[in-house]
Amino acid sequence: MTPAPQLLPVIVVMGVSGSGKSTVGGLLAERLGVPYAEADDFHPPANIAKMSAGHPLDDTDRAPWLDAIAGWIEERAGHGGVVSCSALRRRYRDRLRRDAPDLFFLHLDGSPELIASRLAARMQHFMPSGLLASQFEALEPLEPDEAGAVVPVDGGARQIAERALAALPGATGR
Ligand SMILES: Nc1ncnc2c1ncn2[C@@H]1O[C@H](COP(=O)(O)OP(=O)(O)OP(=O)(O)O)[C@@H](O)[C@H]1O
Ligand SMILES: [Mg+2]
Repeated sequence: MTPAPQLLPVIVVMGVSGSGKSTVGGLLAERLGVPYAEADDFHPPANIAKMSAGHPLDDTDRAPWLDAIAGWIEERAGHGGVVSCSALRRRYRDRLRRDAPDLFFLHLDGSPELIASRLAARMQHFMPSGLLASQFEALEPLEPDEAGAVVPVDGGARQIAERALAALPGATGR
């Protein structure tokens, strides 16, 4: 049984590009009956312009973006919500958690080979391997003091969404 929405946590679905955050995050939000958001939609125009010009963002650029995501998380506090955000670094997660201590992170975890194959299928052309490698290099896994769970991404999307549901706090019998 799905608990009443007001008891639901706010969840960040995290992981490297291609790990399935949008796919699984959307399914999870649907299953929980809560709103879903994409972190990419929170970039200010200046960041979009920079990325469009092919320049990587630095942490100064990321600050207003993380603030905006944190704002959404705060709005959803007590009502539940799912946002997909790579959140590769601990300091980004710390920012998102700052005013939302109960924030729960689901880390979609898979081998570079599996994720590369999914990215290749999505892009329908060869993915520059350096991009994915740099994501794995940047990834700082959840630490023991962080509320969250690791969800393996082998198998189908619905199966992964079920796994994610089962990993949520208080998931017994859901
Ligand atoms: N379990 C799965 N089995 C097969 N294909 C999958 C699975 N999950 C996701 N995909 C496919 O893999 C690709 C990457 O998934 P998705 O776009 O959800 O990843 P993402 O983490 O949101 O990536 P990004 O960080 O680039 O937004 C998509 O084409 C998606 O349809
Ligand atoms: Mg995505």
